[in-house]
Amino acid sequence: MCGIIGITGGEETLDVLLEGLARLEYRGYDSAGLAVLPATDGGPLWRARAANGTRSLEDLVKRTEDAPPGSSTGIGHTRWATHGRPSEANAHPHVDCTGQLALVHNGIIENHLELSDELVLAGHHLESDTDTEVLAHLIESELGTHPEAGLVGAVRETLRRVRGYFAIAVIHSGEPDLIVAARRVSPLVMGLTETEAMLASDIPALLGRTRSFLLLEDDQIAELRPGSIRVTTLDGTEVIPPLRTVDYDLDAARKDGYPDYMSKEMHEQPMAVANTLLDRLLPDGTLALDEVRISDDELRSIDKVFIVACGSSYHAGLMAKYAIEHWARLPVEIDISSEFRYRDPVLDSRTLVIGVSQSGETVDTLQALREARRWNAKVLVISNVVDSSMTREADAVLYTRAGPEIGVASTKTHLAQITALEILALYLAQTRGTLYPHEAREFLDAMGALPDKVETALERAADVEVVATAYRASPSFIFLGRHVGYPVALEGALKLKELSYLWAEGFPAGELKHGPIAVVEPGTVVIGVATRTHLWEKMMANVAEVKSRGATVVLVANDGDEETERQADAVLWVPETHQLFSPIVDVVPLQLFAYSMARLHGLDVDRPRNLAKVVTVE
Ligand code: M6R
Repeated sequence: MCGIIGITGGEETLDVLLEGLARLEYRGYDSAGLAVLPATDGGPLWRARAANGTRSLEDLVKRTEDAPPGSSTGIGHTRWATHGRPSEANAHPHVDCTGQLALVHNGIIENHLELSDELVLAGHHLESDTDTEVLAHLIESELGTHPEAGLVGAVRETLRRVRGYFAIAVIHSGEPDLIVAARRVSPLVMGLTETEAMLASDIPALLGRTRSFLLLEDDQIAELRPGSIRVTTLDGTEVIPPLRTVDYDLDAARKDGYPDYMSKEMHEQPMAVANTLLDRLLPDGTLALDEVRISDDELRSIDKVFIVACGSSYHAGLMAKYAIEHWARLPVEIDISSEFRYRDPVLDSRTLVIGVSQSGETVDTLQALREARRWNAKVLVISNVVDSSMTREADAVLYTRAGPEIGVASTKTHLAQITALEILALYLAQTRGTLYPHEAREFLDAMGALPDKVETALERAADVEVVATAYRASPSFIFLGRHVGYPVALEGALKLKELSYLWAEGFPAGELKHGPIAVVEPGTVVIGVATRTHLWEKMMANVAEVKSRGATVVLVANDGDEETERQADAVLWVPETHQLFSPIVDVVPLQLFAYSMARLHGLDVDRPRNLAKVVTVE
């Protein structure tokens, strides 16, 4: 889950690389580096690396005067450390023994230890603790044995020996106009203009330079030269990927006057929900999904649903389980992607597997969906990124239309995911005849009020900050909820721990008495989702249990609910809505709470430590 970038044919190579790396920083910011080739054959390549991410790299490059003038080919990398601690020595690009070849990599080389033993025996000198460096030396070795095959031939032979995932870009000072790129599972896109060819881990990194893109598929190798890209498979067969034009707006990825991306993105939530709902209801009463390659007959024959996802997307899936089971009367199993894939799940052609992923690139979910396809299950993907790996491989896609999310913590895409999943639940119910079309329409109409309710919840940001300030010294927090309030509690705890680094855990409120209540003592802060649902009384009984043990209780409650207020030390108010839609509104004060807490602790909300926005390693 690092970010890679490369360009050949440009005039301001260093600037393009630095700007692209800054946009890719959400993929990791443990360290950053770049390498550029000299304008003439055979000269030494120039490399700069910094241990503290792209800003330090930019400072370093600006301070240095020995960058080769006129370079038009270069590659860059921003790192999320897996093998080897964050340090300059472990930062990419990695070079070979000659210093003529440089390589950047996103992914994991699983057999790097055996490859590195072999290389050391053959006399190579490896300088880092990374799994990546072996690639540079293997390519060097191939070039030495078969110089006639050139850089692309050497990369091809090297990749045949590699187990694991990769998106790589390689340059060599003997071929100064060429970047060789390749991919297996880890994402890689390529852009083209008349005079340039470029690559990156995602499209926004190259926007502003081009709108014409090609996507590299698994086990394909690309040769990028100024104004041209040639793609072949690992066995050398040429392929012609379609050229796609994107119409994204780069401005959508800027902060628009907000202090950070997270607050901008939280305030875009009403729009994200509204856009995801937009035009879903067709004049004939049916629901419109994007890219449906599953027939209604096939949907009617489905007898089981699996939802697979990670992190916040998993919590959105958990919320949807209640809606699908209630409306469509289908049994739903939900699993964390990395568990699903290796537990031999029981699937067949009558199973619908729903993958939920903001990025559409999370490798755990991507591989879980591939496992599902192996069993002939139907795969439907909910994603925010058009043409991401998951959406390209799915039988059907329902896009969340939240716009680019840069902040590492999911906010607007999380709300859009719940919205999309609820739409899907209604579609399944209607197709399977468990809801009449007019009933599905009534629910969808009711969803139309959600953007305003989310807006109202956001307007309470200052009140939430007061509550956060009151409990800023607490070292730990317990989050409780029942029914759909349970995944809301899990999401509230995840947001708090990832942003403020405080210990926070979410529990089903009814489960507390089976063990976790032992940790409750006078002063423990418990945050409960106590909005009005059919389980409100039972929830309040659980609240009483922790209060009687001295806990301080903060409750998410519906506007004007004095009965709930009387049981709380502090209240986070939200408008009331239908129980199955309530997570979309109830999670908002918990996002705001985590945001305020992180700011009160002086932390960077957009770049929480140890995290990356897109996780492309297992
Ligand atoms: O791109 P995905 O939705 O597949 O990402 C899954 C998780 O990594 C992600 O939801 C993560 O938990 C959140 N960014 C945390 O806020």
